Amino acid sequence: MKPESIRVIQEEHGTIAAIAKSLGMMIERGPRDDLPGYFEVVGAMLFYIDEFPERLHHPKETELLFPKVAQRVPEIAKLIGQLDKEHTRGEFAIGDLQYLLKAWELLGPTRREAFEVAAKHHLQFYMEHIRLEETEIIPAAMRVLDAGDWEEVDAAFASNVDPLNGKYPRDPIYDRLFTRIVMRAPAPIGLG
Ligand SMILES: [Fe+2]
Ligand SMILES: [Fe+2]
Repeated sequence: MKPESIRVIQEEHGTIAAIAKSLGMMIERGPRDDLPGYFEVVGAMLFYIDEFPERLHHPKETELLFPKVAQRVPEIAKLIGQLDKEHTRGEFAIGDLQYLLKAWELLGPTRREAFEVAAKHHLQFYMEHIRLEETEIIPAAMRVLDAGDWEEVDAAFASNVDPLNGKYPRDPIYDRLFTRIVMRAPAPIGLG
């Protein structure tokens, strides 16, 4: 049976990938005739990525799961080091994207391309990050961690406290925000 911590990580990857995909589609499609709607929806998507994966998902990986895997599989420690760095880099990159979107909104279309190029680049980087975790780290973890390890990691996932918001476990506020974004995004990206 799949450990609870892995189930949580994979479920979160699914949510992140769904938002990333919608964001990519929004950027591909462009604002069309609804610029305010575009800024609102794209801004909410970026906020979601900043708030949920950057602050809740990555810390669980970097602090709770990765160190155990690196300890048991020295060959993978280098890749884990890279992914940890990407967690830090991602946090800054998402802040930059929020800034670039604001610049377009407030300064006009001359700032559009900078946002679009940076956003596409970041989405690519992000999906590759998740792919490496899914294809390299999770299989390695499943191979080398024993029942005792999983008990420890699962317990930490369930109870460890994040100083930022008081918990690691997923809060329903994120699901509500996710639903709001999907409702507001234009069809066929969302239901709006
Ligand atoms: Fe990650
Ligand atoms: Fe991840």
